[in-house]
Amino acid sequence: MRTELVEPRLRFSDLKPPPADFRREVVEGLRRPRKALSPKFFYDPEGCRLFEAICDLPEYYLTRTEVGILTEHADSIARTLGQGGALIELGSGNSRKVRLLLEALKPAVYIPVDIAREHLLTASRALAADCPWLDIHAACLDYSQRFALPFLSDAQRKIVFFPGSSIGNFEPAAAENLLRSVAQCVQPDGGLLIGFDLKKDAAILNAAYNDSAGVTAQFNLNLLRYINARAAANFDLDRFHHQAFYNELRGRIEMHLCSEYRQQVIVAGETFNFLDGETIHTESSYKYGIEEFQTLAHNAGFEPDRCWCDRDSLFCVHYFAVRAS
Ligand code: AVI
Repeated sequence: MRTELVEPRLRFSDLKPPPADFRREVVEGLRRPRKALSPKFFYDPEGCRLFEAICDLPEYYLTRTEVGILTEHADSIARTLGQGGALIELGSGNSRKVRLLLEALKPAVYIPVDIAREHLLTASRALAADCPWLDIHAACLDYSQRFALPFLSDAQRKIVFFPGSSIGNFEPAAAENLLRSVAQCVQPDGGLLIGFDLKKDAAILNAAYNDSAGVTAQFNLNLLRYINARAAANFDLDRFHHQAFYNELRGRIEMHLCSEYRQQVIVAGETFNFLDGETIHTESSYKYGIEEFQTLAHNAGFEPDRCWCDRDSLFCVHYFAVRAS
């Protein structure tokens, strides 16, 4: 680990996340009997731009609802979590949501964690300029793998902030494993403030992932463009379409790219056959009931403390305290 002092109150530690073997992962995903790709590959610069646009769509209630909850309940959240201590944000991106809490929470140090080095540095610099009173220690690492923050002292109280329902993009077993490594990170007296999307009327969910402006469709199809550019592939984007639906049985939105014809595609020198109507599963977005999520968190080593929801029970921000081991 290399730590540098970027500015007087901004440190940066590079925990050198190993680069994903993109070609291998794509080819392995397409060789499966049910073709599938990891949603982590959505976020090239164009994918990040499209995701930001999704967050502002009228049908995509998640972002504005969570922002509403954090804004309305910032003081109550701060009273529950307590001031001071280290506030660690997983997948901090542009650090937009944490800004709603910083004044009330007054952390001793804010630790944004992200895999995208340059984006992390830019966002941290912008935050340092806007909050000159705040100590920031940015950490570049892949939190989806087991992680640790070796620069934190055992004596520091730690709280992980994981907003945006990003937990919903993990399969439940992987979500539990992730929360288990969070529990280890915040031992012995810390906690987890997490935002997750709630189960609700399928019509609301289906609309959120099938917006009328077609931005989610572009976001999904952009994955094929990225594979063409990065894995010597020849996907024809006009021969696939976006598909998203709520799978009630599994409690998740599924996103797919559906082949409109019987066709062959070459990826990294290998030929893949598609049937008419065959799909590539590109993302799952799990929705939870509050108790269901509490059970998952309990299995990972947390106890439920308080939660805050919007009036329509669309979204939940929940604080969990770690169980001392
Ligand atoms: C990032 N993640 C929480 C989004 C979601 O809702 O699952 C990704 C997304 N996919 C389509 N729209 C948004």
